[in-house]
Amino acid sequence: MIKTILNLYKMKYSRLLVFFLTALLLMGCKKDKNNPGYNYMGKYDMYYTKFYKAYSPNPVFSNKMTNQLPAEGAVPRGKMPFPYKGATVADRAQNQALAGIELLNPVPADEQAVQEGKIQFGIFCSDCHGTGGKGDGHLYTSKLFPAKPTSLVDAYVQNKPDGEIYYVITMGSISGLMGPHGSQITPENRWKIIHYLRHLAK
Ligand code: HEC
Repeated sequence: MIKTILNLYKMKYSRLLVFFLTALLLMGCKKDKNNPGYNYMGKYDMYYTKFYKAYSPNPVFSNKMTNQLPAEGAVPRGKMPFPYKGATVADRAQNQALAGIELLNPVPADEQAVQEGKIQFGIFCSDCHGTGGKGDGHLYTSKLFPAKPTSLVDAYVQNKPDGEIYYVITMGSISGLMGPHGSQITPENRWKIIHYLRHLAK
C-alpha cells in the first residue's frame, strides 16, 4: 500500500492525485466517535446483521420462534439434576433411600459453610423445628402448624445420610406433612443447612 502510494508520488501529476485520494479517504472519518462513518459494505449483512428479539417471530427455525427450548437433558450451569421425583408414598420412600445412597454433600464442611447453613436454617427451618432443631418451633408451639416437627438433633435424623436429608428439604417429608423447600433454597444452601444440622447435634 505505502509502496504504491510512493510510486504514484513519483509520477507526473501524481502529487495532485495523492492529495485528492487522501482527502477522499479522510472524508470517511467522522468527529462523532459513535458514528462509524461511511462504509461501502453497508448494504450487505456483514456490517448490519439481521437480529431477532427474544420474543419476536423467527423465520429461521421450523417452529417460528426465536427463543428455543434448551436441548433435552441439558443441565443449567450450577444446577444438579434431581431425578428423585415420585408421586406415591412408596415411590417417595424408595427415592429418598436412593438419594441417600447416591447423593454426596459436595460442599466442604468448613466453618463458613456451617455459618451460612445456620442463617438458612434460621430463615427456612427454625419456625417449625425450633432454633435448637428439637422440633419445638413457634409455629408448632403456638398451634398455628398442627403437625409435630421431627427433632433434627436426635439419632433418627442424624443417622440418615446427607442425601436423605437433602431429599427431605427438596421434596418434603415422605408423608407430605412437611412441604418441599426445593424452590426456595438453592442446592448449595440445602447442603450447607445439612452441615449446620450435623454441627447442631454435636
Ligand atoms: C412448616 C413447618 C416445617 C418447616 C418450615 C420445615 N419442616 Fe421439617 N418437618 C416438619 C414436620 C411437620 C415434619 C414431620 C413430617 C413427617 O413426619 O412426615 C418434618 C420432618 C423433617 C425431617 C424428617 C423427615 C423424615 O424423613 O422423617 C427432616 C430431616 C426435616 N424436617 C428437615 C427440615 C429442614 C432442614 C427444614 C428447613 C429447610 C425444614 N425441615 C423445614 C415441618 C417443617
